[in-house]
Amino acid sequence: MVGPRRRILPLLLFSVSVLFFFSYYHSSLPFSSPDLNPNPNFTLLAQDPNSDLNFTFIVKVLTFNRLESVARCLRSLAAADYLTDKVQLHVYIDHFALGDASSNVGQKLQESHRILEFVDGFEWKYGDKLIHYRTANAGLQAQWLEAWWPSSDNEFAFVVEDDLEVSPLYYKFLRSLIVNYYYNASNYRPYIYGASLQRPRFVPGKHGNKIQLDDRTRLFLYQLVGTWGQLLFPKPWKEFRLWYDNHKAKGIKPFLDGMVTTGWYKKIGEKIWTPWFIKFIHTRGYFNIYTNCLHERALSVSHRDAGVNYGKTAGPDSHILDESSLDFGFWDLQPLSDLRWYDFCFREIFPERVVGNLDELGSVLNSVQKQDTVIIVSLFGVPEMVIRNLLCHFESLNLWHYVLIGPESDFLFELARRGHPVIGTDQFLRSVGAYKLMSFQDSNVEMIKEVLVKAYVLKKCLESRYNIWVVDGNMLPVNSDLFIESDPSYDFYIGKSSELFFARRSSSARSIGGNDFLSKFAMMVNSLLAKRHSLSFGYIMAKFLEQKGVRVKDLDETSLCLRIGNSNVNQSLGDGKQMVFWSSDMASDLLRKGLQELGIWIVNDDFSCKAVVCHKS
Ligand SMILES: *[C@@H]1O[C@H](CO)[C@@H](O)[C@H](O)[C@H]1NC(C)=O
Ligand SMILES: *[C@@H]1O[C@H](CO)[C@@H](O)[C@H](O)[C@H]1NC(C)=O
Ligand SMILES: *[C@@H]1O[C@H](CO)[C@@H](O)[C@H](O)[C@H]1NC(C)=O
Ligand SMILES: *[C@@H]1O[C@H](CO)[C@@H](O)[C@H](O)[C@H]1NC(C)=O
Repeated sequence: MVGPRRRILPLLLFSVSVLFFFSYYHSSLPFSSPDLNPNPNFTLLAQDPNSDLNFTFIVKVLTFNRLESVARCLRSLAAADYLTDKVQLHVYIDHFALGDASSNVGQKLQESHRILEFVDGFEWKYGDKLIHYRTANAGLQAQWLEAWWPSSDNEFAFVVEDDLEVSPLYYKFLRSLIVNYYYNASNYRPYIYGASLQRPRFVPGKHGNKIQLDDRTRLFLYQLVGTWGQLLFPKPWKEFRLWYDNHKAKGIKPFLDGMVTTGWYKKIGEKIWTPWFIKFIHTRGYFNIYTNCLHERALSVSHRDAGVNYGKTAGPDSHILDESSLDFGFWDLQPLSDLRWYDFCFREIFPERVVGNLDELGSVLNSVQKQDTVIIVSLFGVPEMVIRNLLCHFESLNLWHYVLIGPESDFLFELARRGHPVIGTDQFLRSVGAYKLMSFQDSNVEMIKEVLVKAYVLKKCLESRYNIWVVDGNMLPVNSDLFIESDPSYDFYIGKSSELFFARRSSSARSIGGNDFLSKFAMMVNSLLAKRHSLSFGYIMAKFLEQKGVRVKDLDETSLCLRIGNSNVNQSLGDGKQMVFWSSDMASDLLRKGLQELGIWIVNDDFSCKAVVCHKS
């Protein structure tokens, strides 16, 4: 009696799901276009290309008690070419600290008044001039943070400390950056927070080591803020101000282990603002545009006069780039897709790699593989905080030969744009025609997709002659040895409780199943489903292979892995353990506690990594 109805139901559900996938992807994800825009939430600014741009540009000068410096700075700003644009000038004059008995108040008052007099008399013919004279000492941090609250998404601030000198070309350059990378939808990214005109100098995750750049790079993206001439985009700056408020008010410090700037913060604390901004940028995964003008040249140069940043005057850090020294195609701003991206270790990262078909998979596998091995990490059903913790471990283990697979979600696309290669499961399975092979029921749609996408990726890996590890996100590698091939004697290994699966790039492994491997595999999935098995990829694949007479060897989980569970807390990672895993239904608070006790919970409360870990490149 139940029979006929049960045959109709899956069929019906199948067509409903296909319809659902179809309309979902065609309404919200522009996947059909060849250039992937993987994040559906990237609301590109609606800019009518025919209309004139109408944005507000404000120069924010921060000064204190250095008349010579601010005079040099303002003169260089006034000497720049502003085309026919209106540009506002806001000057913030900090006050000396009151109540310091030892200080010579008379002399300090005189200095302040001379600065006020100079700024008052300074002619600014490009737009409004505004002067903000403080009543008490604010310090550099408040000078920066209070200098700007954007009044719209079309307002930009260029912040200069008073010991800077800018190139006469600086505005023309910034203007073209704004036009090309903010108002041109194909180059706009909400996670670019501005542009620094200073010469890129150091790598904060590598003890402040010097940056190594090749001579061909003109423009690039780098996470670090450059305080000697920084253009700020409005939205990220507002976000930062709110984030700062939130953290400062709660007494949360901007510590980011592994960064030289955290050392500065521990020494001089709230005198500087950059450790706050750096921590924010790290948490959000944002980027800054930089120039490489070669020959120690820059559009903005610091004279490093004695003050908060320098005990004594250190002199100019670079040469100013002017018209006469323009010996290359400086104004040819490349499309964003041609630029390189670097993190706080100055490691190149590749944002927005979302694999949607077999060709893209092939090229991503080629680019991530290490020693001919690739790790496929399944994120299905894994909580976000667990995934973020896992990725911090990958970073600290210097382990980059992985590809993530998971259901398309904002979270998955965010991981992609932060540089973790991902496979968008639905898009991928549709493109390879996998849905034609399957019938779906509501209860197991996700499970079937997970199993199928793993099978396709496994096949592609073996075809591309890579060893492949298929692992579940509910695990943590403790060191990277496990994932480097150590001459296994079998082609296939399975970890029965840990959901680990390994396949070797041997010719015998490659030939399994032949051309109809996937349709036979799908048949197997269908037939196992009919028996209502609870299914996992490893289980199905092992069964499939065994049917073909291929031996799948059990991994020695007891010696390789530590399993944490609900009951046995306070275990330790003994010798020889390569990874830790747990059941996917373990309660997340317990899991977190267990990982904390083992010292392998390495994310903050907002699930950002606690540390930046750089490795030798
Ligand atoms: C993306 O948009 C969806 C729906 O509009 C919203 O629920 C989600 O919070 C957004 N995600 C981000 C990261 O802004
Ligand atoms: C530009 O914006 C300003 C302020 O929003 C507005 O007053 C002005 O009319 C705009 N000009 C043009 C040409 O749209
Ligand atoms: C936007 O940028 C793209 C890529 O750099 C370029 O091809 C296109 O011409 C630009 N559009 C406009 C209106 O400038
Ligand atoms: C686990 O160990 C920590 C530190 O050694 C201790 O504070 C905690 O009480 C222990 N928990 C249990 C359940 O034994």
